[in-house]
Amino acid sequence: MKNSGLLLASMLPFAMAFEYRVGVGKDETTGRKGLGFDPSVIHPAAGDTITFEFRSGSHSAVQSSFDNPCVGNGGFNSGVHEVPDSLAVDAPGLPVVTVTVNNTEPLWFFDEAGGLCHQGAVLAVNPTAAQSATIFKENAALPPKPASSTSAPASSSTTTAAANDSVTRPANSASGLVASGWLATAAGVVLGGLFM
Ligand SMILES: *[C@@H]1O[C@H](CO)[C@@H](O)[C@H](O)[C@H]1NC(C)=O
Ligand SMILES: *[C@@H]1O[C@H](CO)[C@@H](O)[C@H](O)[C@H]1NC(C)=O
Repeated sequence: MKNSGLLLASMLPFAMAFEYRVGVGKDETTGRKGLGFDPSVIHPAAGDTITFEFRSGSHSAVQSSFDNPCVGNGGFNSGVHEVPDSLAVDAPGLPVVTVTVNNTEPLWFFDEAGGLCHQGAVLAVNPTAAQSATIFKENAALPPKPASSTSAPASSSTTTAAANDSVTRPANSASGLVASGWLATAAGVVLGGLFM
């Protein structure tokens, strides 16, 4: 299966550097101006590009991390892009920013300027079984994680027991699913190329 996928991909060289266009400030369920990214999950291959298309209001696409979805990690930052309210969600010439995907490691983004990360304005790139887009979105809904050197809260209302009661994550035990995820990715790229 894996080999036939590779063979098919090699027969379609134009599909090898696929451009994923992701709307920012566009609701993926309604297709109108709104919260988040459209689509909010993509599976690019190494060498593909992501083009963020700013479709409404004031938004930015900023790279973050799986555990801390709403805090920039110092990586990619599109900058803030403003779109006049008078423009339609699919108006020509809206601002775009492109970033190249260099490998198939997961990448995580949020809309910093839009300010609605906690409500799900996040983008998952190449999520895995263990680090899924669903858990990423759940992480985004949580309060931000404190910085690494934490001191005891000034408020005396928290007990030692409560301080240890931190959010834990299930063990990453589903690595057997990675291979099938890879196949789905390859198929997606080929299909995406066919239907461009
Ligand atoms: C991929 O590499 C290019 C060139 O070094 C860099 O500009 C870009 O930010 C990288 N992409 C990501 C997602 O880190
Ligand atoms: C909380 O964590 C500290 C340090 O890890 C440990 O010494 C303490 O026993 C823990 N307290 C409870 C109630 O689990």
